[in-house]
Amino acid sequence: MTKASMIALVSIAIYISSSFNFVYATGAATPGAAESNKFKVVGHVYCDTCRVEFETKISKPISGAVVKLECRNRTDGALTFQSPEIMTTQSGDYSIDVEGDYEDSDCDVTLVKSSWPDCSDMTEEWRKARVVLTTFDGVSGNIRFANSLGFKKKEALPECKKVLTDLGYYELQNELGNEVLP
Ligand SMILES: *[C@@H]1O[C@H](CO)[C@@H](O)[C@H](O)[C@H]1NC(C)=O
Repeated sequence: MTKASMIALVSIAIYISSSFNFVYATGAATPGAAESNKFKVVGHVYCDTCRVEFETKISKPISGAVVKLECRNRTDGALTFQSPEIMTTQSGDYSIDVEGDYEDSDCDVTLVKSSWPDCSDMTEEWRKARVVLTTFDGVSGNIRFANSLGFKKKEALPECKKVLTDLGYYELQNELGNEVLP
């Protein structure tokens, strides 16, 4: 991994932990309200213009994409929560309101459909973002951030080669490749 991408990862980590701190600070005024938990799940949908399954600086937000949130009982898989289908805004963002505590469920935001015909491929493993919707695990605050979800463009943009080279993507791929090779 290049120095630049390490710095980017570290800044993202700091950004995320400081937003949790902020949420904690504002949400801490009403402790013990476990029965009436209200969560807001927020996230972003983008077009993966390089078909690499992560966001790059030339990824594009998709407005009008459809997502939904479902929670399933971890033991028997029964549906414990299902949101309506939610559309992303102009900036590709969504916000889903959830009521209740889902300590014993696995909750995922799932891509349902894209609004862009040439950017609508989804990979089974990448179409879901896990969110934790309980206050019993030490995560405080009502706003829960889901990882960004992407649809893959039918064909990668020509600029991708340069963008990915700058990210150290090919170096990383070589490193990983070498580990796998005998
Ligand atoms: C989950 O499923 C188990 C086994 O069927 C059941 O005992 C438990 O009450 C369920 N939990 C919820 C929250 O529905």
